[in-house]
Amino acid sequence: MTQALDLAAIRAQTPGVKEKLHFNNAGAGLMPQVVLDAQLSYLQTEALNGGYETAVLMASEIENSYTAIARLINAMPDEIAVVENATVAWAQVFYGFPFKAGDRVLTTESEYASNFIAFLQLKKRLGIEIDVAPSDETGQVYCGQLEAMIGPKTAMICLNHIPTNGGLVQPAEKVGEIAQAHNIPYLLDACQSVGQLHLDVDELKCDFLSATGRKYLRGPRGTGFLYARKGSMDLLEPAVLDLHSAKWTSSTAYKMRDDARRFENWENNLAAKVGLGVAADYAFGLGTGATEERLVNLANDLRKKLSSIRGSEVFDLGERKGGITTFSLAGHDPFTMMAKLREQSINTSVSDRESTLLDATRRNLEPMLRASVHYYNSEEEVDRFVEAIEAL
Ligand SMILES: Cc1ncc(COP(=O)(O)O)c(C=O)c1O
Repeated sequence: MTQALDLAAIRAQTPGVKEKLHFNNAGAGLMPQVVLDAQLSYLQTEALNGGYETAVLMASEIENSYTAIARLINAMPDEIAVVENATVAWAQVFYGFPFKAGDRVLTTESEYASNFIAFLQLKKRLGIEIDVAPSDETGQVYCGQLEAMIGPKTAMICLNHIPTNGGLVQPAEKVGEIAQAHNIPYLLDACQSVGQLHLDVDELKCDFLSATGRKYLRGPRGTGFLYARKGSMDLLEPAVLDLHSAKWTSSTAYKMRDDARRFENWENNLAAKVGLGVAADYAFGLGTGATEERLVNLANDLRKKLSSIRGSEVFDLGERKGGITTFSLAGHDPFTMMAKLREQSINTSVSDRESTLLDATRRNLEPMLRASVHYYNSEEEVDRFVEAIEAL
């Protein structure tokens, strides 16, 4: 059962919607007022009391970010590390894993540039191999093929839950079942899906999940988090350790922390960390089932309306689709479209080829205009957006 959303209240709590028609949530979502207030209040306290002293004064607000994130994804607070962004969260696991020459990483055709660059770097550095499972006719990963590609050297499965360049939602739960059945560590990039979909790490069966704060979670920029399952944490040592994540115990030894904070490092933006916790509370409070349902319906409506415009082509793949839509308009350059829309206070972005090169090459994609809706967007905004595209 999903609870009903009060759209008017949600929009009143989102100052940005009065200024802009914001369809760039896959870039960065608009923060709710409470997230902004939490950060301003923290910064004010810091300015008046000093940074270290404020960390003591506001320790419970800082701790809240762990409990709030854990509750949002059905994890335990000690399985959460708060870091700078999704890339750092992902890299702490990937580069920390004890790969050996000949080990294989299994991934998909929707993989994100930064992750694939990391595969290539370890291929060059250590001699790992990269296996890319094909997509099925709907555009999602072909799970049967993915499973058939698992061999004795498969050391990790890396899945991108929702790619940056469209509506596709990968079958992350099914991939989790396969990973578990074969006892292979499973690293899920949930950068675009956290805050967009209802996520439960037990249903996803992932060992590690990386996410960002600024996108669908509507948190501050420069925040991200890692979920590391308790039983899986010791499969690796984080790529970077410091005096926060480990203790220097003798001239020849150190001891890592027992919890997921071993993936963090000492210095970070505590105002943003507090804001991230408030964003996670806010998302949980609205109900992730209800917000997912609303944004999926809005995006489906948008896709339908865009498809009926002469000369338009919508590129979203998948049996299941989320809030991101990418499309083109014949004879129109997407960068120029984005600029023209911005002049009308409409925010979008452009998905280029390089951010998802395997997919772009396979489908022969050129840069596409990306409109990514959130639950706080309104039906009227969808119509206004479609009219603006038609007017182009
Ligand atoms: C699918 C996906 N994974 C990872 C990232 C990297 O996230 P961050 O910029 O927070 O490091 C992005 C960013 O757009 C993304 O879309």
